[in-house]
Amino acid sequence: MNARRWGGLLAVFAAGVGLLAALIGWELRAGALPPGAAGTVPPDKAVTGRGAVLARAGNCMACHTVRGGAPYAGGRRIETPFGDLYASNLTPDGETGLGHWSDEAFRRAMQQGIARDGRLLYPAFPYPHFTRMSDGDVEALRAFLRSLPAVRQPNTPHALRFPFNTQAALALWRLMHFEPGRLQPDTTQSAEWNRGAYLVQGVAHCAACHGTRNAWGATTDPFGGEALPDGRWRAPSLHDPRQAGVQAWPIERVVALLRDGSVDGASVAGPMAEVVFHGTQYLPEADLRAMATYLRALPVRTTVAPDFVSAAGGVLAAGEQLYGQHCADCHGKAGEGKAGQYPPLAGNRVVTADDPTNVLQAIVGGGFAPATPGHPYPYGMPPFRTLLTDTEIAAVASYLRQSWGHRASAVRSLEVQRVR
Ligand code: HEC
Ligand code: HEC
Ligand code: HEC
Repeated sequence: MNARRWGGLLAVFAAGVGLLAALIGWELRAGALPPGAAGTVPPDKAVTGRGAVLARAGNCMACHTVRGGAPYAGGRRIETPFGDLYASNLTPDGETGLGHWSDEAFRRAMQQGIARDGRLLYPAFPYPHFTRMSDGDVEALRAFLRSLPAVRQPNTPHALRFPFNTQAALALWRLMHFEPGRLQPDTTQSAEWNRGAYLVQGVAHCAACHGTRNAWGATTDPFGGEALPDGRWRAPSLHDPRQAGVQAWPIERVVALLRDGSVDGASVAGPMAEVVFHGTQYLPEADLRAMATYLRALPVRTTVAPDFVSAAGGVLAAGEQLYGQHCADCHGKAGEGKAGQYPPLAGNRVVTADDPTNVLQAIVGGGFAPATPGHPYPYGMPPFRTLLTDTEIAAVASYLRQSWGHRASAVRSLEVQRVR
């Protein structure tokens, strides 16, 4: 290449860098907002009540409360691939909470992801979804948070790695991925569907876990399924009836799953159990029906199963023996389960999912379905983390995946190691 071509390329590159710097600068333009007078407007009971329901739907408490700590006072650690973030104090304390935040500052945080002092906020706070919420609902949330007792608890500083701890990196991420804006109703759909779309896409931020992302972190399909950042669980696709799709379920069954956490033949586990436990179980029946209406209407997109890998005969025999010894008492000789107590494993889509992450996690970590009024005393599953080796867990999982008419690929012990 001659000097002129180099010079030209360099000029284009410099212009590109300059443009990027200008764009980042533009993204960083937000300034601090003046302190607002908290509590000047006497909270309206009805509005505060609506806000309380929205806070449930948005699971604010789950992130903004440390285990055993004061509700909404912040401090919980959120693990991300870039380091750890700590959720903030949302109580009306003047110094450490939102006491000096005006309504405008709160709305800007929820809909634009910018703190009162002008700092861009990390999207571990699901504002890329909350931005779909209406002004009225954001105000109701604000009224509810204001009605909480003020708790003095300073925020824990984030511990992110360079360059992710810089505002410039965050500005770049926002330029590429953040689309602020309220959800516009789809007039070709029913009011119930629209209400469901609004809740699912907005405050309930289901796509925060269930959304498929590409290597740049951009959501390519809001409900296509994705591994959670810690790699221990996978949020399955809501488009695929072989995964978490509910298109073929009667509406009552979908409502019951979101309200009770379990229905005959399926129960929620891990992070999804938290969604039900802290969130959806408290939603009014009409909102659950609306969400179910929307979920059932999601277009069906089945994923192509990878090539089938059958387990070696010895592995299946070992798995069958382990199953009889450790599992059959609860789940039944033929994986039939026991209604209301132990989920069936035969015909269970957690067991037969192409990706074995969740079935392995269920065996390694055990767990409880969430306790809800419709299912007050869930039976527990003991963790087998220390009882069985990786090879044994792989064998029993492979047995489950290739018995009772199932045809899902065998699991390798390396995959067990990954979810531990
Ligand atoms: C998945 C976890 C998660 C959920 C759910 C969540 N938040 Fe947060 N939130 C965070 C984190 C982490 C931060 C800190 C972000 C930062 O500092 O960049 C935060 C920050 C905030 C802030 C900015 C506070 C400040 O001092 O800068 C507000 C306001 C807020 N959240 C409100 C809410 C509300 C209201 C809900 C429920 C509707 C909610 N959050 C749900 C994790 C969460
Ligand atoms: C914090 C991450 C997270 C969020 C937020 C989340 N999910 Fe899930 N979801 C999961 C995981 C992980 C699973 C797989 C475990 C399981 O089967 O319960 C799952 C499973 C499901 C299933 C299949 C349950 C079964 O047993 O068949 C449905 C349906 C579902 N989610 C719907 C939703 C809806 C609706 C929302 C929004 C209200 C939502 N999820 C929000 C992580 C999440
Ligand atoms: C003491 C009774 C008990 C024993 C023993 C037991 N389980 Fe479970 N198992 C449960 C319960 C209860 C659940 C539901 C827990 C939940 O929803 O989180 C469950 C859930 C599961 C799930 C997830 C199903 C779903 O729909 O989410 C799998 C897979 C599973 N068990 C496999 C096994 C295997 C394999 C063994 C033996 C190594 C075993 N279980 C032993 C009680 C038991």
